[in-house]
Amino acid sequence: MTHQLPPLPYPYNALEPHIGEATLLLHHDKHHAAYVNNLNATLETQAALQGYDLETLLRRIGEVPEAIRTAIINNAGQVHAHTLYFEVMTPGGATAPHGALAEAIDKQFGSFAAFREQFAKAGATRFGSGWAWLVVKEDGQLALYSTANGDNPLMQGHTPILTMDVWEHAYYLNYQNRRPDYVSTFLGLINWDIVGAKYETALHR
Ligand SMILES: [Fe+2]
Repeated sequence: MTHQLPPLPYPYNALEPHIGEATLLLHHDKHHAAYVNNLNATLETQAALQGYDLETLLRRIGEVPEAIRTAIINNAGQVHAHTLYFEVMTPGGATAPHGALAEAIDKQFGSFAAFREQFAKAGATRFGSGWAWLVVKEDGQLALYSTANGDNPLMQGHTPILTMDVWEHAYYLNYQNRRPDYVSTFLGLINWDIVGAKYETALHR
């Protein structure tokens, strides 16, 4: 199986002025694309792993030969994370969680406001490069945390339903060093219809 770069699900200028066209062009067409290419190059000689889709590859990271494990984590993890990140910013959906996800967020974090605060903190305080995540654990509970570099929750059996890229390439052209400003903007860009649908799917997987 050759992994493909999914198209950006909306025009490159769709998130203006919050995330500019130049950022999305670089982020999708250069960074995301490079991770797909590097993943395919790493898998070229790995017949046993070529049948795995992205999610399976990360969930079964323990089966990946040690010599290429870091390359798989870095590249497969980044391909998966970027696809989810771009998708959850699709313009036009609900601006707050509703239904079962809203109830689960209230139960786990106290309120949507408390969730936003904790998610923002996870992203803003991640040292260096990485991601903030909202995941569904194996027991169906929600959890929120950040990871470094390309590490992905799928590797520990968690199913991500929302992620925020806090690598500098995600925000530097618009926000320079002001990561907290980017983080609070991102929170306003989330399409909660998409996150809610992913929650339902994760519960029934
Ligand atoms: Fe990125």
